[in-house]
Amino acid sequence: MTDSVFGTSASATDAVEQRMRIQLEVNGDPIEREVLVRQHLVDFLRDELGLTGSHLGCEHGVCGACSVLVDGELLRGCLMLAVQAQGKRVQTIEGLSDQGELAILQQAFLEHNAMQCGFCTPGMLLTARALMHEQDAPSRDVIRAYISGNYCRCTGYQAIVDAIETAIIRSKASGTVRASGASA
Ligand code: FES
Ligand code: FES
Repeated sequence: MTDSVFGTSASATDAVEQRMRIQLEVNGDPIEREVLVRQHLVDFLRDELGLTGSHLGCEHGVCGACSVLVDGELLRGCLMLAVQAQGKRVQTIEGLSDQGELAILQQAFLEHNAMQCGFCTPGMLLTARALMHEQDAPSRDVIRAYISGNYCRCTGYQAIVDAIETAIIRSKASGTVRASGASA
């Protein structure tokens, strides 16, 4: 039956409310939930699991605030539905060890005064960590291009590029991370 004002049908409404049971791994923990099929992964992580380190900024894949790792690949949580994470391994900033490469990154960000707000910084750290896994010795131009998908209108990015460069040099020297062509 069609709604005379909005032109919506009962079946369209049903589709919007359709739910599906999913199983996935989040930060090492097995998770099983029934979710709305239209729910985005970042909403699922924040609203259902309380993992609020990933944020919603633009909601259309531009700002990088919703960055998460899915099966080791850096993805936008606002462009992926929770149901698409069925059977996958999801990592958020909360689940990354504060040892190893993340600790090196955090220390370098502190030293270079590169920490921005809690809204944009988690995505930047995840992106920088992914770069550490992909390349041994990226140039500053490559670092700048890589981080360009993480928006912050409050910085000139100089300190952030400095921090990432420092962290990559240190992690390479300590053997903490080996670039493998795949981020994990
Ligand atoms: S909220 Fe996902 S890229 Fe901006
Ligand atoms: S958006 Fe986080 S400090 Fe600018």
